[in-house]
Amino acid sequence: MIYLDNAATSFPKPEAVYQALDHFARTSLANPGRAGHRMAVDAERMLDATRHALNQFFGGGAPERWVLTHNCTDGLNLAIKGVVERGDHVVTTDLEHNSVSRPLRALEKAGVITLDRVASESGYVDPDAIRRALTPRTTLVVMTHASNVLGTVQPIASVGAIVREAGALFLVDAAQTAGVVPINLRHIAVDMLAFPGHKALYGPTGTGAIYVGPRAEQKIRPWREGGTGGDSSSPTQPLDLPYRLEGGTPNVLGAAGLAAGIAWVQDRGPDRLRAHEITLLEQVVDWALSSGDWQVAGRWDPERHVGALSLIVPPSFCPQDLGAILDGSFDIAVRPGLHCAPYIHRVLGTFPDGTLRVSPGGFSTSADVAAFTSALSEITAEVV
Ligand SMILES: Cc1ncc(COP(=O)(O)O)c(C=O)c1O
Repeated sequence: MIYLDNAATSFPKPEAVYQALDHFARTSLANPGRAGHRMAVDAERMLDATRHALNQFFGGGAPERWVLTHNCTDGLNLAIKGVVERGDHVVTTDLEHNSVSRPLRALEKAGVITLDRVASESGYVDPDAIRRALTPRTTLVVMTHASNVLGTVQPIASVGAIVREAGALFLVDAAQTAGVVPINLRHIAVDMLAFPGHKALYGPTGTGAIYVGPRAEQKIRPWREGGTGGDSSSPTQPLDLPYRLEGGTPNVLGAAGLAAGIAWVQDRGPDRLRAHEITLLEQVVDWALSSGDWQVAGRWDPERHVGALSLIVPPSFCPQDLGAILDGSFDIAVRPGLHCAPYIHRVLGTFPDGTLRVSPGGFSTSADVAAFTSALSEITAEVV
């Protein structure tokens, strides 16, 4: 199969990731525990090694600030539900994935928070629009680092400075950027950074992490309480990180794969990986422009883009049908529909059918993209 759905999850994984998973599963797949037997201690060491790798890769404050999660949604829910309080005002954007929009809307509907959704402009959020949305009651700003529909990268450094000045917390959803856009937490005012391990960090599904900075640490409550592999005497969840937020058996096998994925990405460099994906998307953009029938959603600015691109399909076609034909007749995997981000599709005028999203990854080739565009030309030739 020609796999061009890396914005959903990356495939294939690097060989080193497969090997790490296999080796760890065969030798050390015990339940981690700080005071346990040798295999339990090995498993705990693997978690620690993964936290160290994350801390180094993203310039974090300390390894224990990295809470391992099951995916990005898990981290975002943990952050949002862990810090908001009744009466808070929260600011977000129209680019968000449902993993941000739904928990926020649920809290708004329950009367816990008031919510403002800032509008983007051709796929980009203006930091001044965030500034204008802040009120004295704003305690949290939640924003994606890149739209998973459009691929547009947002100015989180400028927004972070504004949010910090206002005294609110800044939560960034780095689902589409972690691994392809350099992020150094020493240089930007981000209080919480959530991301999956299974996309551009090339770990397996079931992995992710959230960084909890010092300002967020003062506030964040666990929404899952339970065993932490050490100090069982306390009747309540320990306060120290990461254990405050990590009740239950962690995905230690996934963490072994994630550590190998991070090492692979670090070796190549996020800039190089992004540049490869952008070169491939340029091929799609050129084809769409020359076809005349296809439109690229959002503003195409290669300098501020990750490797996901949405095509607005010609009026006589529906994205779902095209996705099914590409899959069934051409063995090509792309993602039609709303991509769990309904608000931006309403702005684009593509609600409810959505767009056709193509997202090459580190192993995609120019021939893969050529097969995709020529398949679309063939499918649409007779009708358009
Ligand atoms: C921008 C964005 N946020 C959050 C998520 C949710 O990630 P996960 O599926 O790892 O929970 C995704 C997944 O596609 C995404 O693209």
